[in-house]
Amino acid sequence: MTNCWIIYNGSLISEKFVDQANLMAEAVKKYDVEPIVLKNCDVLMDLQTELVNRPDFVIFLDKDILLGQFLKQQGIPVFNDPDIIEICDNKAKQYLKLSQGNIPIPKTIIAPKVYRNFSITQTGYFEKVIEQLKLPMIIKEAHGSFGMKVYLIETEQQFYEKVKELSGVDFVFQEFIASSTGRDIRVNIVGDEVVAAMYRHSETDFRANITNGGKAERIELTEEQIKIAKQAALVLGAEYAGVDLLFGENEQPIVCEVNAAAHIRNIYNVTGVNVGEKLTQYILRKLAL
Ligand SMILES: Nc1ncnc2c1ncn2[C@@H]1O[C@H](COP(=O)(O)OP(=O)(O)O)[C@@H](O)[C@H]1O
Ligand SMILES: [Mg+2]
Repeated sequence: MTNCWIIYNGSLISEKFVDQANLMAEAVKKYDVEPIVLKNCDVLMDLQTELVNRPDFVIFLDKDILLGQFLKQQGIPVFNDPDIIEICDNKAKQYLKLSQGNIPIPKTIIAPKVYRNFSITQTGYFEKVIEQLKLPMIIKEAHGSFGMKVYLIETEQQFYEKVKELSGVDFVFQEFIASSTGRDIRVNIVGDEVVAAMYRHSETDFRANITNGGKAERIELTEEQIKIAKQAALVLGAEYAGVDLLFGENEQPIVCEVNAAAHIRNIYNVTGVNVGEKLTQYILRKLAL
């Protein structure tokens, strides 16, 4: 019987990580695939000993990129490919790629590397950034989820405090898309198909993330939204993606970010679509299992 590993992170204590692994497990069972749900730390990345009980494929719900690479190096198909997870996990890297692919994104400036506890305050660099993007602007750490590392910067004081706090951390400066305040769209893509989408909105925060207090409902996407979301996933090479779209001034879609390990619980609750089922169908077709 075909089997797969479903890997999530063992250090995150929130129930939602194991919940989503279990929801994925339910999905693969529908296609007669036996799921083995594992924490990343259940797999010993022993480089000298061959892995036993190898699965037919791995659904990787974690950002432990080295584990993904380790499994890929063993010849096991991993979804998403860890190279893609690595790009998406770093927002600066993914914006580089998205801009290279001419995908509409907010104006973005990647912050230069500053070593921890060092500073470039005297160089005139930050003045240039403020002049270019104006306030309010967004500062976004390269690594972060659930809106937790995304900051709305309204004053110069906030700006300088934040850049000081972030010395040693990868981040970007970004145009604040005011027309999208507290609202966005999450589009789930598998292969080259949109399989589910939801509109998210918050009355209390500029961030629409559900984990951050946003509410979600079904939405019928426009042709343009479908096209841009698919292109964003394609440019990054993500076979499985959760694309966040912002609303531009004329409601035109602007890509906020692409998640390569998108959570599937909320989209399931809102739309009734278990994205895991679509992903399983896709993987079985691709691997001819
Ligand atoms: N440039 C922006 N302008 C306006 N709102 C933004 C912008 N970037 C992010 N947001 C809001 O913040 C939320 C979180 O940002 P996102 O880049 O998706 O990070 P995360 O990985 O934490 O979800 C988005 O869903 C959106 O509501
Ligand atoms: Mg997001």
